[in-house]
Amino acid sequence: MRKTVKDILDLKNKRKISMLTAYDYPFARMADEAGIDVVLVGDSLANVVLGLNTTTEVGMPEMLHHAKAVGRAVKHSMVAVDMPYDSVRQGIDAAVKYAEQFMNDAKCDAVKIEWFDGCLDIIRAVASNNIPVIGHVGLTPQTAEQLGGFKVQGKDADSAKRIIDQASDMEYAGCFGVVLECVPAPLAKIITTRLKIPTIGIGAGIDCDGQVLVVHDILGLFSGFRPKFVKQYANCSEIIVKAIAQYKEEVEKAQFPSEEYCYKMDESELKKL
Ligand code: KIV
Repeated sequence: MRKTVKDILDLKNKRKISMLTAYDYPFARMADEAGIDVVLVGDSLANVVLGLNTTTEVGMPEMLHHAKAVGRAVKHSMVAVDMPYDSVRQGIDAAVKYAEQFMNDAKCDAVKIEWFDGCLDIIRAVASNNIPVIGHVGLTPQTAEQLGGFKVQGKDADSAKRIIDQASDMEYAGCFGVVLECVPAPLAKIITTRLKIPTIGIGAGIDCDGQVLVVHDILGLFSGFRPKFVKQYANCSEIIVKAIAQYKEEVEKAQFPSEEYCYKMDESELKKL
């Protein structure tokens, strides 16, 4: 059985919540097996899987395709998915229709919606159609340009107050959780204390109710920019490149496939050829 919204809400003030991105069947299966609470099909798909520059370049077809693969893999975690930039800018009815596609066609359990002007109407509509919603404030990659680029948000009192208001407006609009990205740890602590719903931090310090990171970052699978908040737990690129290089060498030197990897044939049958 997958984790439910109630399971996640109940974790606030009990133990920290783990969230990790996954974009395909094998990684989703491994995250599920490792006991991650929420597997997020992030639109960071654009950067770490599809080699695009911005998350605004992925739309419903790409997100749905990858969400379906994750949905097939996960048995115990909750599966959440990012509503891509375009999907929440075509009006309320379209957003609800797209959110329903994630739930029905891709077997997701929740959608995540980043803060933008007008997001509250979308969140209210999606949530009132019984689709669980996670909000996202602070550094919101879909609108990073308007925020001055990929940098810490809420460093002064005015911008910090704005982020506090956005998080509580999202709670009031029906979100059951909110991601706090790239904000000072003391600000994340204030938001976490004021909200009844769990906060999930990424570059937001230890006091959030949970943490989220991108799987390619923690495994050392992404060679692009690595923000300060990323902890790399393994260098899988090194292991993978080494294995591929060994395979290449064995092919070139006719060492692979050795006998153990080959199918045999009866001598008598062979003679007939
Ligand atoms: O797209 C993403 O991966 C995200 C998380 C890192 C929060 O939004």
